[in-house]
Parts: sequence; C-alpha cells; structure tokens
Amino acid sequence: MISLDLHRSDDFVASHLRDGLENRVKAAHRAIINKTGAGSEWIGWRDVLASPNDALLEEISLQGKEIRERADVLVCVGIGGSYLGADAVIKALSPYFRAAKDEVVEEASLFEPGASTGKTPEVLFAGHHLSGKYLTELLDYLEGKSVYVNMISKSGTTLEPGIAFRVIRDWMEVRFEDSSRRIMATTDAERGALRALATEKGYRTHIIPDDVGGRFSVLTPVGLLPIAAAGFDIRSLFYGAVAMMKEIDTSENHAALDYAARRYALHESGFTTEVLSVFEPSLSGFGGWWQQLFGESEGKEHKGIFPTTCLFSTDLHSLGQYLQEGRRNVAETFLTLGDDRGHITVPEWDSDADGSTADGLSFVAGKTFSDVTQAALHGTMDAHVQGGVPVQHLEIERLDENALGGLIYFFEHVVAIGGYLLGVNPFDQPGVEAYKRAMYERLGR
Ligand code: PA5
Repeated sequence: MISLDLHRSDDFVASHLRDGLENRVKAAHRAIINKTGAGSEWIGWRDVLASPNDALLEEISLQGKEIRERADVLVCVGIGGSYLGADAVIKALSPYFRAAKDEVVEEASLFEPGASTGKTPEVLFAGHHLSGKYLTELLDYLEGKSVYVNMISKSGTTLEPGIAFRVIRDWMEVRFEDSSRRIMATTDAERGALRALATEKGYRTHIIPDDVGGRFSVLTPVGLLPIAAAGFDIRSLFYGAVAMMKEIDTSENHAALDYAARRYALHESGFTTEVLSVFEPSLSGFGGWWQQLFGESEGKEHKGIFPTTCLFSTDLHSLGQYLQEGRRNVAETFLTLGDDRGHITVPEWDSDADGSTADGLSFVAGKTFSDVTQAALHGTMDAHVQGGVPVQHLEIERLDENALGGLIYFFEHVVAIGGYLLGVNPFDQPGVEAYKRAMYERLGR
C-alpha cells in the first residue's frame, strides 16, 4: 500500500487550480486505460501486466538460478531504460554489505578459473556511459571469475552499450569456451543488429515487446532477468505491479490521481523542479529510474517538470541550503518507508558531573536510528515548507519485491497522466536523438 499526504503543499497551489483539475485528471486516467491518448501505441507496459505470462516469469527465474549457480558476476550491458530499472530494484533490495547474503565460499573454488565461487553473483553494469577507464578496470576485475553477460538493447545499435559489448564479447570469447551459453541478449523480437548476432552465435534471447519503451520496461525481461540473477523474487515484484494497476484502474479517487494532479498544479503555479527525496541510501538507484521516467516522459515541447533526486540526510549537508533558501521554483516529494529496519540504538555514554558528554549528544541516547530518521524527516519537511518549498509525502510500508513492484507501476501511471496534463506525448523521446546525431557526425558516420 502507498500512502500519500499532500497537505504540506496545499498553500502553494494557485487558487484556480485547487478544484479545477479533477475532470482533466480523470480524463487522462481513462485515456491511459482505454488507450485513446497520444502515444497509446506504446502502452504495452500495461498489457504485459494485464495478461501475466507466468511461463516467461518461470523461464526467467530458472535462467536467474542458472546464473546464480554458475556465475560470480553478471555483467549487464545497456543504457537508459535498458539498465536503470534493474539497477534500481537490485540496489533497493540488496543488503548494503554482500556478506550478509552470500553463501559460505568454498576456498578451493576461488582458484579454478571459470568456476563459480558459489556466492550470490554480483550484477555489474557496463555500456551505461563512455568511460574507457571503467571498462578497463571492469575487465581487470572480471579476470579469473566466472562471468555471464546480458546484452540489453532494443535497437541493438545504441553506441554506448554497442561498443562496450564489442569489447566484452571479445573478452568472453577468449576466456570461455562456452561463451555462447554465457552471453544472453535481450532485444527486439525480429529487428536489429543484436537479434541477428544472437541468432548467428546461438545466444539465448529475450524479447523487449515492440510497444514498451525503454523507461517502461523494467517489468519485462529487460529488468526481470538481472533482478532474478541477483536472487530476488521476480514473481512477487511483477504481481505487486499487477495489483497496483488493478487498484488504480478501479478507482478514480486513487492516490496516483491525486499525486498526478498536485504535481501538475504545482508546475502551473511556478514549481518547475521536483526533487524526489529519500532517507534510505538503497533507494538512491530508484531515484535514478524515477528521474529517467519523468524526465524523458514530460520534458518536451519546452514543457515539463525537471526531475531530480536527493539522498537525505547526506544531501541536507549540501543541497539542503539551496532547498531551504535558493530559487523558489522547487517542489519536493519525500519517499519514505513505514518500516526502515533501523532498530539499532544510540548508546549511552558516561556523562560528566553536569550530565553532559563530550559530543553533546546525550539527548539522542536510547533512541533508535528509526526514531532519529523520523525526527529528521518531519523536521526537514517542516523547515522546507517554511522556506517556501511545497512538500508531498509518499510512503510505502516496507521495502520488498511486492511493494517495489507496486511503486513502479504507481509512478508509471502518474507520469502518463502527467504527460497528458502537460499536453505532451509521454511515451516518445525525440530529444535524445540530437546529441547522437552530433556525436556520430564527429565520429565520422
Ligand atoms: O527509454 C528509452 O527509450 C531509452 O532510455 C533507451 O532505453 C536507451 O536509449 C537505450 O536504447 P536501446 O535499448 O535501443 O539500446
């Protein structure tokens, strides 16, 4: 369940927008459900959830199991929508320190090249930027490990993953006789260079449905295979999204509609930047996915809310100053967890005769880190509102596969309504071609 509290943003919305949006929001909501709005030929991300393919979920889970059993590292090669969803979910669900999840390592297997160490594989990413230093160091790191590769590209021609894959594929072919089994491809059903190469080499493949854009693809094999390989329950993730879609589709009073309406009302009232603020570091990857979803869907025709993210309280010691006192065009959405598992307690220290301690923090002793986080959350929300920042607050009960699946669908539905309210097609991204054309020209294409 997702709870939404908008009261801290009420006073920032221009009066004519307070009540006038309901019908427009409902119309946008119905246009998504009935596929009657702009770009509706790209709403396949809902069809995937409306008719779950359990056999595919099972097949992906089994491949994930094979990767877990045989690999130390799965390298996912892809950029934008072809990696951000998997990165978000894996970061959100993984323990901060791997030893907490790893099985006991058999020392002998560490020294057999190509044999798995028996640990839960690390999922690493490549082709998501152009750093040659990163790629060089990645290959050094992979040396002596059992490696699987998942090349993810709908077009198969995107430059960043394409050139990284050239390097990684050559590296794999030299090191592993069974490289064709270890390399998998997730791409278009028929078209594209990657499909042709996969057929020629006999790679196992998964299909990115034609009518699902990259940023909406995390619940297709694009995201599901890496997430399964990292050891997470993709069925629970997927069905969390299915349940959320049903919940939203059957209610015109859902929090998703209220949040979409408020974001738009704030935008029309001059708040042209939205910060997604989280307190749990593992949610920072989710912020990256959210940023792409909203930025690529809404930012076009010189319109849109600029989406950015903050990790608190870390960023309260840097961007906190701007949020409190900088330009007043920023709205904030706090995304928090009902149970953050922060039960560890601040210890008592011996105090001086006057009751004080050297660090002056005795007033926090005996409280849990969750207590302190709650104080920081509510203190920050109050301070920001007083400083002129409208605050919206979303909370999920806990961080697990099911809740995350629900949250993914929630934001997808919100952004689709957001695009329609702004009067843009939320499902295309014509602007991303401009830099490619300029870059290709310089590279002599
Ligand atoms: O959301 C999108 O459509 C983009 O971010 C693409 O996913 C990204 O450009 C990668 O494209 P491709 O999967 O064709 O390599």
